[in-house]
Amino acid sequence: MNLAEAAKVAFASEFSFYLKAHNFHWNVEGPLFLQYHELFGKVYEEVYASIDDFAEKIRAIGSYMPGSYTRFSYLSQIDDEVEILQPQQMLQELYEDNDKMLVVLKMAYDLSEQAGEHGLSNFLAERMDAHRKHGWMLRASLKQ
Ligand SMILES: [Fe+2]
Repeated sequence: MNLAEAAKVAFASEFSFYLKAHNFHWNVEGPLFLQYHELFGKVYEEVYASIDDFAEKIRAIGSYMPGSYTRFSYLSQIDDEVEILQPQQMLQELYEDNDKMLVVLKMAYDLSEQAGEHGLSNFLAERMDAHRKHGWMLRASLKQ
């Protein structure tokens, strides 16, 4: 996989991760509703705020951006969730997806460093850092 491909996979995965966190924010139910609604809200807002910059960083290295559900579902490493899950299942699934995000971001980061695209790799490193923090909050919320 070349840098442009890896960056687009990371981007499409990031968009899908954002959508899933927003989906869980909307649909979570139960006695801890407000707590989970706010946690998922915190995650989707942070990720959504990175999307435009992410796309424009990839445009800056000369690649066109995927911007359709067809292309996203082809490229994304994050599977769609179409069921309404229990809160604990939502946390677990988003936690596992967050680990996948760390993998795809690292792959794009390594290729970006190899290519000497340090602006893009800085951005990808920041995304990894943000996902480390999401991972911590999701893991801490899963602890019994
Ligand atoms: Fe909301």
